[in-house]
Amino acid sequence: MRVLLTGGAGYIGSHTLLKLLRQGHEALVLDNFSNSSPRALGRVKQLAQADFEVREGSICDAERLDQVFAEFRPEAVIHFAGLKAVGESNEKPLHYYAQNVSGSITLLAAMQKHDCRQMVFSSSATVYGDAAYLPYDEAHPLQPTNPYGRTKLFIEEIIRDWAASWPDASAVLLRYFNPVGADPSGQIGEDPQAIPNNLVPYIAQVAVGRLPFLSIFGGDYDTRDGTGERDYIHVEDLAAAHLAAVSFGHSQTGCEAINIGTGHGTTVLELLRAFERASGRKVPHKIVAERAGDVARSFASVTKARTLLGWQAERNLDDMCHSTWNWQSRNPDGYDA
Ligand code: WQD
Repeated sequence: MRVLLTGGAGYIGSHTLLKLLRQGHEALVLDNFSNSSPRALGRVKQLAQADFEVREGSICDAERLDQVFAEFRPEAVIHFAGLKAVGESNEKPLHYYAQNVSGSITLLAAMQKHDCRQMVFSSSATVYGDAAYLPYDEAHPLQPTNPYGRTKLFIEEIIRDWAASWPDASAVLLRYFNPVGADPSGQIGEDPQAIPNNLVPYIAQVAVGRLPFLSIFGGDYDTRDGTGERDYIHVEDLAAAHLAAVSFGHSQTGCEAINIGTGHGTTVLELLRAFERASGRKVPHKIVAERAGDVARSFASVTKARTLLGWQAERNLDDMCHSTWNWQSRNPDGYDA
């Protein structure tokens, strides 16, 4: 199939692109490189030993989208492009709504105009907000607690309405839990453009010597060891879920939201210990105050992914930590080296 990846140079996008190419799909990456590096695409080309199209541009640019759709004639879109920093979204909500929500509307209009009926959307477990019950299943109330999470929810609802208005349309909304890890080659991985907000890239930068120590946000949660618990999912498993969603959507119409996680939680301290084992490095840390907006526990019900997509996570915490360390130790400064 011909697949357009918006934001395809990013962390999840580049890993998904690699799998698509290895499965023989044709791909075009549209990326404005605001939070990604073109170098990642060069690495993917080498790893896949296959070529693909790249266009620099924004999903907010209707003319650019028109050009891309007319030239490439995608049969499916995997929509990764979007701003994703929770803290920044509190400071700049209008910027997040303009880029994420308006940009997605422009993209959906281009899809309809060019008769591209299949969408796989990069959504997030953040749409659930505080847990009314656990594990989070897809019927859990949707009550995001920050503008970033609300952009994901609004886009989900817009896609749902788009699919309902077009009988041939097909949409799969993948609600990611916590993506971590890297391709086993160590050639592509997560490369935050500033000090990492997320736990695993932060730990990796402490282990490689770029940051002095980890601050653990909260040590008195109602969890096994008092630190926050999350459902970490290996980026390779997550990439495989996108391919499963593309093939599922190819033979369906309508709109389905599906959790992508492992179905169980890991605490910050458990992950830190696993990373120390994987890297052979100590990770200095200290427990500080809880971070505003954090939930104590988050992990997914993954029944729907298994029954609808025939997908389940295969990699464990050690795989996540070994592959992250392999990437970070080979690329201490990410793609900028
Ligand atoms: C994980 C755990 C922190 C950093 C966020 C977004 C979510 C999604 C994934 C995009 C928590 C603790 C973290 C640190 C720490 N992003 N932590 N010290 O908050 O579960 O989810 O990223 O879709 O939308 O909300 O991930 O990695 O920030 O935190 O102690 O320096 O690590 O308190 O318990 P989170 P995270």
